Amino acid sequence: TLVYEWSGLTQLAKLLENHFGLQHVIVVPGDYNEDDTILTLLGKEAAQQFMSTSVDGQIVAVTGGKSVASLAQFLHPADSHNITFVAARGGIGHEMQMQANTLVSAFAMQMDAQYRTLFLPEHLSEQAYQAMLAEPMVTEMMNYYDHADCVIHGIGSAEEMAVRRNSSPEDLRILEEKGAVSEAFGYYFNAEGEIVHRIRTIGIQFEQVQRSKDVIAVAAGKQKVKAMLSYFKVAPKQTIFITDEVAAKAIAESL
Ligand code: F6P
Repeated sequence: TLVYEWSGLTQLAKLLENHFGLQHVIVVPGDYNEDDTILTLLGKEAAQQFMSTSVDGQIVAVTGGKSVASLAQFLHPADSHNITFVAARGGIGHEMQMQANTLVSAFAMQMDAQYRTLFLPEHLSEQAYQAMLAEPMVTEMMNYYDHADCVIHGIGSAEEMAVRRNSSPEDLRILEEKGAVSEAFGYYFNAEGEIVHRIRTIGIQFEQVQRSKDVIAVAAGKQKVKAMLSYFKVAPKQTIFITDEVAAKAIAESL
């Protein structure tokens, strides 16, 4: 962190912190899109922040994606007991390595903690969705979401996420029409930060994220700047945001 002080990254972080009204921002040096090792720096900082929130009986909701996955190697058993990691949403068929279900088991293994997964299709029909809501395994997950003490999540550009999720041409059209710019925990937000779409699957609700005591957001890279500017219009104030220098500079320049 001393190195970050010298390089002016702390001032940059403060600027973002004040502008978005967040609890804390950490900017790691470099360019995520040019250099894969930046992901390691992000993961290390995010894991440190998370470990410092750890309390007995903590319930931690975790989303998928590369950025969140980067924490795994830096987690280790905490002094607190009975931590449970819960997948924040039903899985994505593709990208097994990066989905929430896989990450919670990896995080739990590292920390000697428990985990809960939820294997459901990414796009449920209205009928299937309603039927699922009555399933005990789903009500159990909903109960965990309601009591989440911490949420660790990524932020994506709406366009990239829609493609990654194999959204139908119809869904893609709706997203474009509604001006979706960013995506986090299955919600799509427009440039003003308004929720314009939500994928129909079982997952944590935005209200539950807002109520969570600690929120850790990890996202980096220039490609995500528009998405960050959109999502942080509505991000909960308790959010700790970990990003890279290139994205932070681009955000600062856009203000
Ligand atoms: O699909 C899970 C998710 O956390 C999305 O909500 C988010 O937009 C995306 O992954 C971020 O992924 P990555 O960190 O790989 O860019």
